[in-house]
Amino acid sequence: MSKAVYPGSFDPFTNGHLDITERGARIFDELIVAVLVNSEKQAMFSVEERRMMSSEATVHLPNVKVMSFDGLLVDFMRRERSRVILRGLRALSDFEYEFQLAQMNRQLAPETETFFMVTDAKFSYLSSRSVKEVFKFGGAIQEFVPPGVFRRMRERIPPRAME
Ligand code: PNS
Repeated sequence: MSKAVYPGSFDPFTNGHLDITERGARIFDELIVAVLVNSEKQAMFSVEERRMMSSEATVHLPNVKVMSFDGLLVDFMRRERSRVILRGLRALSDFEYEFQLAQMNRQLAPETETFFMVTDAKFSYLSSRSVKEVFKFGGAIQEFVPPGVFRRMRERIPPRAME
């Protein structure tokens, strides 16, 4: 049984994340979407909200489970008995950070392997950060995020009220 972990901040879960999750779920027998609790980044959504939004968006995928984790990814991997880290690569600009992350994780846990999946070209410009920015300034974000995420974002903070 192959089991992979797709870790991230998922603040919020976008259509780009969904694409990687759906494609990963076709490759691996089991895929865990792992939502980071202790993000360095200032999160818009609490970890529970991020976990729920990611679960809702992936409910149609029976071999996908959404969990949250605190601390080091490699410790979570060991607890979950998985040796494969799945990450999406959008552009060359992602590469340096991803390369460092993969090298560090390998240094910390040599048994882990990072697998990169190239993002579908139609999502190559998409990031959680840009979705939040477009939303903040009242732009349309419906086409960038799953319907449940869109609904929660709309409910939570009306456009232009975040300033
Ligand atoms: O969606 P992101 O913010 O790019 O995801 C980054 C993530 C969650 C994969 C990374 O920050 C992470 O694994 N953090 C947990 C702490 C850790 O294990 N860091 C790796 C060594 S620097």
